[in-house]
Amino acid sequence: MARQASSEPPRMTSFPEHSVALIQGASRGIGLAFVRQLLAGGRFGRIHATCRNPEQAEELLALVDRHGERVQPLALDPTDEASIAAAAERIAGEAGRLHLLINSAGILHDDHGLWPEKRLADINPEQLHRSFAVNAFGPLLMAKHCQTLLGHRERAVFASLSARVGSIGDNRLGGWYAYRGAKAAQNMFTCNIAIEYGRTVRNVICVALHPGTTDTGLSQPFQGNVPEERLFSSDFAAQCLLRVIDGLQPEDSGGFFAWDGQPIPW
Ligand SMILES: NC(=O)c1ccc[n+]([C@@H]2O[C@H](COP(=O)([O-])OP(=O)(O)OC[C@H]3O[C@@H](n4cnc5c(N)ncnc54)[C@H](OP(=O)(O)O)[C@@H]3O)[C@@H](O)[C@H]2O)c1
Repeated sequence: MARQASSEPPRMTSFPEHSVALIQGASRGIGLAFVRQLLAGGRFGRIHATCRNPEQAEELLALVDRHGERVQPLALDPTDEASIAAAAERIAGEAGRLHLLINSAGILHDDHGLWPEKRLADINPEQLHRSFAVNAFGPLLMAKHCQTLLGHRERAVFASLSARVGSIGDNRLGGWYAYRGAKAAQNMFTCNIAIEYGRTVRNVICVALHPGTTDTGLSQPFQGNVPEERLFSSDFAAQCLLRVIDGLQPEDSGGFFAWDGQPIPW
């Protein structure tokens, strides 16, 4: 069985009372668990929860039934810049600012043929493009359109879920070209965003995070060799990552951290 979350949600006391969060990719998996954990804690007064079709996201809608206006489902497709711009504009009108933005949406495989490649012969340009659009360009466009919302006088964190397999320094096995390449590109974008935000919106800490192998649809076909204690429930992963986020210092901006707070080489 996957490692389960504790009953104590992360305290998030490094953020001001009534903070505002945006979780991008909140229909299921770790993104939905971020929403659950922030709702269970008292620090965040409003959580904008995005996915492509919120009207079909049953578990997210169940949270709206239970928590009312504290959770705001919002349509956003990270591969569609106009939908990102529209969502940012709506949040600007309703909440005015963001203290926490987590890019959680990601793909490793899909129903249209994307599957982790074993060898060069498996490379398919359309699938490469899809992986890069969701895993790498999505968080970059979020940084573009949410910069003004994040820039204020209080603490703010911009975090993107990457993956240890996106580390060039850590790569010993090869394969998984589309996913490794897209996450490595996302990592470079995170570094760049941290540098630019450091000049323009200096209150923002910008990081890449690795959740550990987590029991979701994304990892489901690849869990066979994962020892029980290394497989996490979504809520366990979300709690660990929120604790890492809560402890981030300004000098951590531009870094890549695992679920246990350990830095990962780029
Ligand atoms: N699970 C793991 O073991 C693991 C390990 C390392 C890193 N990660 C990273 O952690 C993040 C969360 O993963 P997860 O395991 O929670 O995944 P998941 O359960 O499969 O959820 C994926 C999320 O991404 C969105 N998404 C999926 N396909 C999309 C597409 N084609 N276009 C736009 N959005 C799409 C989904 O929203 P819609 O409702 O819009 O489809 C959903 O909210 C990802 O970035 C992943 O790479 C996961």
